[in-house]
Amino acid sequence: MAKSISFPHCEGEVSRQAHADLPQQGRYEREIGRSGFYGPASHLHHRHPPTGWSDWNGPLKPRAYDLNPLLRRCSSPQDATQLLANAHCQVRVWSLDAAMPQLFRNGDGDDLLFIHQGAGELFCDFGHLSYRDGDYILIPRGTMWRMEPASPTAMLMIEASNGAYQLPDKGLAGAHALFDEAMLELPRIDDAFLAQQSETPWQLVIKRRGVPTTVSYPFNPLDAIGWHGNLSVCRINWRDIRPLMSHRYHLPPSAHTTFVAERFVVCTFVPRPTESDPGALCVPFYHSNDDFDELIFYHAGDFFSRDNIKPGMLTLHPCGFTHGPHPKAFAAGAAHSKTFSDEVALMLDARDALDVYPGLDGVELQNYVNSWKPGA
Ligand SMILES: [Fe+2]
Repeated sequence: MAKSISFPHCEGEVSRQAHADLPQQGRYEREIGRSGFYGPASHLHHRHPPTGWSDWNGPLKPRAYDLNPLLRRCSSPQDATQLLANAHCQVRVWSLDAAMPQLFRNGDGDDLLFIHQGAGELFCDFGHLSYRDGDYILIPRGTMWRMEPASPTAMLMIEASNGAYQLPDKGLAGAHALFDEAMLELPRIDDAFLAQQSETPWQLVIKRRGVPTTVSYPFNPLDAIGWHGNLSVCRINWRDIRPLMSHRYHLPPSAHTTFVAERFVVCTFVPRPTESDPGALCVPFYHSNDDFDELIFYHAGDFFSRDNIKPGMLTLHPCGFTHGPHPKAFAAGAAHSKTFSDEVALMLDARDALDVYPGLDGVELQNYVNSWKPGA
């Protein structure tokens, strides 16, 4: 991988190294960047926190939602609660506490399930796979599948509409970084899969253009005795991800990319040491990610850049404004008082604006825009 050499312009008092050795104490670095931390960027050093607004009016604003009530609402894949969407992705939540009575097939795109709570079994065209909390389960478009929970299961479901999920280019870190592709677990044609094959009637619900169609069979169509190829459901858990980090440089969110789809990416923040070099920023730097809407789902742990955010919550930071750590988190970062972050969170960065759906009515934290105020 190569990049052209460039000589950034320096004006006034600056640090020549981004995110480190700020030119004066008590100043605030802000990155204005394009192309999701890959494009042209500048770093400005401010006297005041870029999130120090005193009032905010208009439809563009940071938003936070408590999804916990929605994550307890039992449903089915075809009736999952739609949260946000654009032409390339749909973000939904649903849960189940009993075996799915019907098979499901998505004719609109790949589905990426993120299991927030629960454990159980998944049966699909390709066999049987056990799942647990923290799993990503990638289900290619057109696959028939169903789940049998062993414990109540709640999940985020992200559709890559008319697209397909791929893995990111690991670049300088090499192909085995973050997780080895050998860690991807595939369904097996095992005894549990063969035991569920039967001559009893089953129904299949197919979603195409958002509309369900029900097809009846006089037998269970999950009846494969074998398969070969390079298309399948696969599973990876956040515990399998070995994060990139530097003790001297706060890596951008793009270093935590897990899946890439058409015009959006899914990243995973997993437990990791914080930066120890006294000159290095050790909380996320203030930034304007000016080409992407950023969505973060908080799964577990203590979220080191956010105050008062709990597991099961979701934040939306649309492009167009600067955001960054909350005041208490910033102060802890400046003091290097925390040596390890135990947060687990999923981030979806979308190149096109995400529309907020009525499914989020009633679960928004109305005062989130003021949560950066000192003492909030
Ligand atoms: Fe951001």
